[in-house]
Amino acid sequence: KQHLLPIKESRLGVIGGSGFYSINKIDCHEEIEVNTPYGKPSDSIRLFKTGNLEIAFIARHGRTHKLNPTEIPYKANIWALRSIGVRWIIAPSAVGSLQEQIRPLDIVIPDQFIDRTHKRPATFFNEGAVAHVTMGDPFCMNLSGILCNVSEENIPGGRQLHRGGTYLAMEGPAFSTRAESNLYRSWGCSIIGMTNHTEARLAKEAEIAYSSLSMVTDYDCWHQTHQEVSVEMVLENLRANTEVANKIVFEIAKVIDKKRPQSKSHSSLKDGLITQKENIP
Ligand code: ADE
Repeated sequence: KQHLLPIKESRLGVIGGSGFYSINKIDCHEEIEVNTPYGKPSDSIRLFKTGNLEIAFIARHGRTHKLNPTEIPYKANIWALRSIGVRWIIAPSAVGSLQEQIRPLDIVIPDQFIDRTHKRPATFFNEGAVAHVTMGDPFCMNLSGILCNVSEENIPGGRQLHRGGTYLAMEGPAFSTRAESNLYRSWGCSIIGMTNHTEARLAKEAEIAYSSLSMVTDYDCWHQTHQEVSVEMVLENLRANTEVANKIVFEIAKVIDKKRPQSKSHSSLKDGLITQKENIP
């Protein structure tokens, strides 16, 4: 695996979702094109520096938002980040709320997901080797704890931070039907989005600690008195959220630079069952 995913140096990866197209607190000092066995990532990778830590930023949907959630080259994105030495990823993303107490403009750091996608790459291990990594904690608990603390210190008054919660991953690009939304509520899900679970799963296989910074934009379509989710609503609340997300990313980078936190995610393959395909009779 070292051969496939060399570590050059530890960097922090940021995968910016809709509305989060750059880190606006620091100047980008280099832009790199990375090719991977899975093709090109969603966009070039831009490098920023704070203290001794380099941040590798990638726009999930491309800078001009040209890729819908199904079209995002997830494997290329995670591979590209890992190949330039990324060992932590923070993923700012827009999500809908499935719970009354999780209000638009709140922040959720989920600790679980339920996968309802059906057109996504599930694994890096479908050629050459079979690996079953554990997925009991799909997001990095250690990194998410740090992200919660930093978010709590930087969230503006009137908004709430929710520590933990279940992220329902849907295929999209259309939003859910009301029946689906109510079904996910009955499952106890907290938020709904289209991208984080695919990244979290692949990051786990790439031994990268991954945490979602989920920014709530809407109540999906289940709420009796709130308007049904629309692209306009998502964009309007995203604009209000981008500044906060930028500040949180900037502040967590300083903490990661200082702590360089190690976690179980950094050795997830060690505990997984791995078989070379040529050894399988
Ligand atoms: N992203 C933002 N709001 C969403 C919603 N309601 N459903 C799925 N993805 C979303």
